[in-house]
Amino acid sequence: MNNIGFRRTHMCAELNEANAGELVNLSGWVQRTRNLGSIIFVWLRDRTGLVQLVFDEKDCDKETFALGESLRGEYVLSVQGKVSLRDEAAVNEKLKTGRIEVFVRKAILLNKAETPPIYIDDDHPDESETVRMKYRYLDIRRPSVQRTLRMRHKILQTLRNYMDGQEFVEVETPILTKSTPEGARDFLVPSRLHHGTFYALPQSPQIYKQLLMLGGYDRYFQIARCFRDEDSRADRQPEFTQCDIEMSFVEPEDVQTVVEGAFEEVFRTVKGIELQLPLERITWQYAMDTYGSDKPDRRFGLTIHDVSDAVRGCGFSVFAGAVENGGTVRGINAKGLAAKISRKEIDALGEFVKTFKAKGLAWIKVQEGGAVQSPVAKFLSEAEMDKVLQALDAQPGDALFFVADKTSVVLQSLGALRLELAKKFDLIDKNKYDLFWVTEFPLLEYDEEEGRYVAMHHPFTSAMDEDVDKMETEPGKVRAKAYDLVLNGIEMGSGSIRIHSSEMQERMFKLIGLPHDVAWERFGFMLEAFKYGVPPHGGFAFGVDRLIMQLTGAQSLRDVLAFPKAANASCLMMETPSTVDPEQLKMCGIAVVDEEK
Ligand code: AMO
Ligand code: AMP
Repeated sequence: MNNIGFRRTHMCAELNEANAGELVNLSGWVQRTRNLGSIIFVWLRDRTGLVQLVFDEKDCDKETFALGESLRGEYVLSVQGKVSLRDEAAVNEKLKTGRIEVFVRKAILLNKAETPPIYIDDDHPDESETVRMKYRYLDIRRPSVQRTLRMRHKILQTLRNYMDGQEFVEVETPILTKSTPEGARDFLVPSRLHHGTFYALPQSPQIYKQLLMLGGYDRYFQIARCFRDEDSRADRQPEFTQCDIEMSFVEPEDVQTVVEGAFEEVFRTVKGIELQLPLERITWQYAMDTYGSDKPDRRFGLTIHDVSDAVRGCGFSVFAGAVENGGTVRGINAKGLAAKISRKEIDALGEFVKTFKAKGLAWIKVQEGGAVQSPVAKFLSEAEMDKVLQALDAQPGDALFFVADKTSVVLQSLGALRLELAKKFDLIDKNKYDLFWVTEFPLLEYDEEEGRYVAMHHPFTSAMDEDVDKMETEPGKVRAKAYDLVLNGIEMGSGSIRIHSSEMQERMFKLIGLPHDVAWERFGFMLEAFKYGVPPHGGFAFGVDRLIMQLTGAQSLRDVLAFPKAANASCLMMETPSTVDPEQLKMCGIAVVDEEK
C-alpha cells in the first residue's frame, strides 16, 4: 500500500475483450454507481474514458463490498479486479468498453469528493455557463472538453513539427513590451522601478518579428500569446494564441504557400481531410462586391448583384436617388424562398438591415405563374422590372431583396442579410470546410469618427507596387500587399508584405496622420533599426484558437481554452481581475481614483 493505491496496469477505456481473464489495476474517478443490493455497478473514469466495475458480494471480501457501497460520484478510487466478458444481453454498445466489465477483488479509496455543483458529463447542455466557468476545474473533466484540449495539443504539435520541417526557428518574444499598433486597446502593466511608466502586453509580436528579419533569422515562427483589451465575443478573447510567422526575401505567394502547407498538415493529421492546394484566391474587391464581406461564408449562395444600371432614373425615388447620388442599388436572390418567407418575416428582415444603417429593404416575390408581387413594382416600368429580374436571374418561386444607399451601407447590410437568411433557412452546409485567401486589401480605410485614414491591416504593410504612386493623391484607392485567410466565413489570419525602407515607413505614418515626432517617439527604435540593412520581408499570423474552434465544431472560443475568460473579460473561477494590496499599488506609485469623484 502506498499513496497511489494499486499501481495502475491499464487505462480504463483501453481494456477490451482481449483482456478477458486478466487481473488489472485501475485508477480514476467514480462516474456513477448503481446499487442492486448484492451487486453494485460502478462506472470508473480516467482520461481514456469509462469502464464498468462490478462489486459482487460473492467475489470480494466484506470490507471491499462495503467500500463499494459507500462510493459516490467523483470519489477517487484504485481497484484491482478481473476482466470478464459480459453476457450478450448485458453488452452496452454505447460504451467503448461495453463488452467487458471488471469484477473488483480489492479497492482503495484514494479520496472522497463533495457532490459536484455541475454534471461531469456531456448530457446536460443546459447547464449554466456561469456555474461551469466558476467550477471550470470540474468542467474540464468532461469528455468533450478533454477531447478538445487534447486536439488543441495535437494541432500545436503538428504546427511546430511542420514549421520546424520548413526550417523555421521558434523565437520567444517579450510579454512585457511596448504598445503594438494592431488597433485594439493595450493591457498595461505598471513599472515598480520607473514610477509613472508602463509596459504594454503585446497585441502581437509584430515589431519583434520584423526586427528578427533585420537580425538575419530569415524564417521565424512562434506559438505566441497575444493580449487585446477589446470586448469579448464568441470568436474573441482578451488573451489568445497566434501561430505567428515572418519570412525574408519573399512575395505574398511565398508566405501563402507556407501557411497553406501548415493548414494542409493540420487538416490531414487531425481530421483526415485532404485540402486541395493551392487554395483559391479572391480579391478583396470581389469578396465585397459578391458577398458584402471581406470574410465571406461561401458555403451557400445568395450572392449580391448590382442593379444600379437597371433602375437608373426609374420611378422609385429611393432607387433612382441612390444611383444619382453616387450610391448603388444591389440585391440578392433568395432562390425558391418566396413561399417560405411571410410578410411579417420580411418586415423583420427590414428592421434587421436597419441595424446596418440601411434605410429600408425593398423586395420582389416572383410567383409561380411569373407575376411579380412587390411594393415597388408600381414604380418600375415593365422593361426596368425585366432588367432587374434578369440581373438576379430570377425564376418563379424566388424572393429578391434590395438595398439602395451609398455602396458601403448597401454591401454591409446585404452581407449581413445573406448570413441571416442562410441561418434562418438552414442553408449552410455544415460538413464543408471552405478555406481560401482574400487578397489585395485596401491599404487604408477612412475613419469617419477620427476624420482621417487609418491602416486597414497595420501601418507596416506595404502598398502594391502599381498603386504606390496614388498613396498621397488617392489614398482610399491604394491596394496593399495584404491577405487574409478565411475559413467558413471566419477570419483565420492576416498577413502582409512589410514596408522595408524607413522613408516609405515615414510616408505611411504621415498618411495615417501620425506626426513625425510622435512616430519617432513610438516607433523610433524601429525607424532607426531600418537604417541598418533590413531585408524585404513579410509574414502572417493566424488565430490558433479560432482554427481549433472550427475543427472541433465548438460554439465559442471559451470551449477551446482550458481556462477562458467570460464575456466581460473576467475569470469567474479565480475572480480576476481583482483589487490588490495597497502596498503593491504604492510600490508602483499608483493610486486608484474613485470614478465618482
Ligand atoms: P491580426 O490582428 O489580424 O494580425 O490577428 C491575426 C489573427 O489573430 C486572431 N485574433 C484573435 N483571436 C482570438 N481573440 C482575439 N481577440 C483575436 N484577435 C485576433 C485572428 C486574426 O486573424 N501582426 C498581425 C499579423 C501579421 O501581419 O503578420 C496580426 O496580429 O484569427
Ligand atoms: P417607402 O416608400 O418608404 O414606403 O418604402 C417602400 C419600400 O421600399 C419599403 O419596402 C421599404 O422598406 C423600401 N425601402 C425604403 N428605403 C429603401 C432603401 N434605401 N433601400 C431599399 N429599400 C428601401
